[in-house]
Amino acid sequence: MSDITVNPIYEKIIDDLLNQKYSISDFFFSNEETKQLRESIIQQDTKQDFHQAAIGNSQNEQIVKSIRGDKILWIDESKMTETEEIFFSKINHFIDYLNRTCYMGIEESEFHYAIYPEGTFYQRHVDAFKNDDRRTLSMVFYLNDEDWKDDFGGQLTLFLPDENNKEKELDVLPLAGRLAIFDSKTIPHEVKKVNKPRYSITGWLKTRK
Ligand code: OGA
Ligand code: MN
Repeated sequence: MSDITVNPIYEKIIDDLLNQKYSISDFFFSNEETKQLRESIIQQDTKQDFHQAAIGNSQNEQIVKSIRGDKILWIDESKMTETEEIFFSKINHFIDYLNRTCYMGIEESEFHYAIYPEGTFYQRHVDAFKNDDRRTLSMVFYLNDEDWKDDFGGQLTLFLPDENNKEKELDVLPLAGRLAIFDSKTIPHEVKKVNKPRYSITGWLKTRK
């Protein structure tokens, strides 16, 4: 087992998740790691292995650009680059921490690169599938330039309950190095139309079926 030292960054995320089912953290990866991951997605994009993202899982796959316009590339854990290995070792450390401090029972993870070309968006949805509820936590790491401005669009909007159980919206700017993490089963969200290519790594921590 890896070390069990209290990790303040993870503790803040766990606290937020318990209290409000989402957390926004700007410290999960170091600036250097974020820079490497950004170079990695740009490099992968030149190989043109990305494909138009689908809706639903493989049992129910259809391409509907009017719902989502991003292109994705799954990270294959059996042939990772050095940077991807750094990424997954951190993720696995975090999973281990969640399982030991909160008994979350995470057994698997899956991550893909995502690029939203100019003019694309992802309409309101929930991440867990109807016929497969293993997705428990959604994680999105933003790999944009540091000076992403509000008018570039691409905000992640979370639809959250307010004090009166009405709905309120929280807009999250996709700033470099930022992690958005939220409950995959209960938090509806959308990606606003982008006016500049938008880069991220998105994935899910999954429990047993
Ligand atoms: C998704 C998603 C959010 C984002 O890929 O399911 O909702 O901010 N992404 O990229
Ligand atoms: Mn989503």
